[in-house]
Amino acid sequence: MAGSDRSQISSFIVMDVMRQAALREAAGEKVVHMEVGQPGTPAPETARFAAKAALDQNALGYTLALGLPSLRQRISDHYREIYQVSVDPARIVITSGSSAAFVLSFLALFDPGQRVALPSPGYPCYRHILSALGQETPLLPTGPDRRWMPTVADLKVMQATGALSGLVLASPANPTGTMITPQRLQEISCFCDDNDIWLISDEIYHGLTYNETAQTALAVSDRAIIVNSFSKYYSMTGWRIGWLVVPDNLVSVVERLAQNFYISPPTISQIAAEGAFSGRRELEANRAVYAANRDLLVAGLHDLGLSNFAPPDGAFYVYVDIRDFASDAATFAKQMLEETNVAATPGIDFDAEGGNHYIRFCYAGTTADIERALDRLKAWPRLSART
Ligand SMILES: Cc1ncc(COP(=O)(O)O)c(C=O)c1O
Repeated sequence: MAGSDRSQISSFIVMDVMRQAALREAAGEKVVHMEVGQPGTPAPETARFAAKAALDQNALGYTLALGLPSLRQRISDHYREIYQVSVDPARIVITSGSSAAFVLSFLALFDPGQRVALPSPGYPCYRHILSALGQETPLLPTGPDRRWMPTVADLKVMQATGALSGLVLASPANPTGTMITPQRLQEISCFCDDNDIWLISDEIYHGLTYNETAQTALAVSDRAIIVNSFSKYYSMTGWRIGWLVVPDNLVSVVERLAQNFYISPPTISQIAAEGAFSGRRELEANRAVYAANRDLLVAGLHDLGLSNFAPPDGAFYVYVDIRDFASDAATFAKQMLEETNVAATPGIDFDAEGGNHYIRFCYAGTTADIERALDRLKAWPRLSART
């Protein structure tokens, strides 16, 4: 077996589907991409403008490991403007995407062998990163009836089987697009504080909500660790830039880790990210497209008989139960790609057990993409035979 024991983690299946879709495209096929969770739009013009100016005027050397002070201040302002929450910029750490924020925070918080609870289904990389770092990842089962969110009762049951050191919670969530209610977030946060459990709140899909706005865990706990990113709402996946908010006493811990692991986050991306905050009009226009796509996809899936899913409140995903059509989502997704050129991700990426009954569709493309995908699915004998 090549590689260390700790490196034996599974692949991020969505990237595998992306590779298969790319192979088909290289062979001349026209694929509608609903597999990867990324906007098709570029960074807002204000971000690109800032980056272009920096290319000519700035040596673009390393920054401080915690990031550019002006960007940390701008993020602090963002908490005041959007959530009416005051956050000292000294607690904000700029990272290479939220992915690096996970590595830094998990290393700062947990020792090997500690248990970090993860709601299932969930974003697969939490499980894979934690497991590579030596943590155990007990899974909290959820379901569409509970909008795919855990409760304090679930945590108590899990805590009874062995002390928990952490909980990672995302709202809006990937793959389901569902959100936790403010009251349940408060209950969970209190339970975590009372039981010495670190709450890591992944807020990467904040801003992408269609009914209620999302509540930051910072509004209910000073001890919560916040992970966020410019990848989704700010439409900057490839710029690899995100942030962490940590309690005061962890700042220097994370700083030492960040210095050693990454030196500093990418300078040009930090400059662009600061510019992105002025691009709100463009970003809200993107969100309006997602909202229209969501309505179209939800209605289209219902027409196809694929109506078994919890209403998606945010992000840009619908997590659909395909049990009435197939017993194996991985094969279903593969055939769908091969026979209709619509790429979507099988649920096993997000839930190794129950996920084989689910497909995740991402609606972050154009509205024309969603129309095209629905037309193809309507004409697919596998589905049309039943409608
Ligand atoms: C819930 C969630 N968290 C984190 C990430 C990682 O994002 P990035 O590293 O681009 O910030 C993703 C990417 O899809 C995600 O869905």
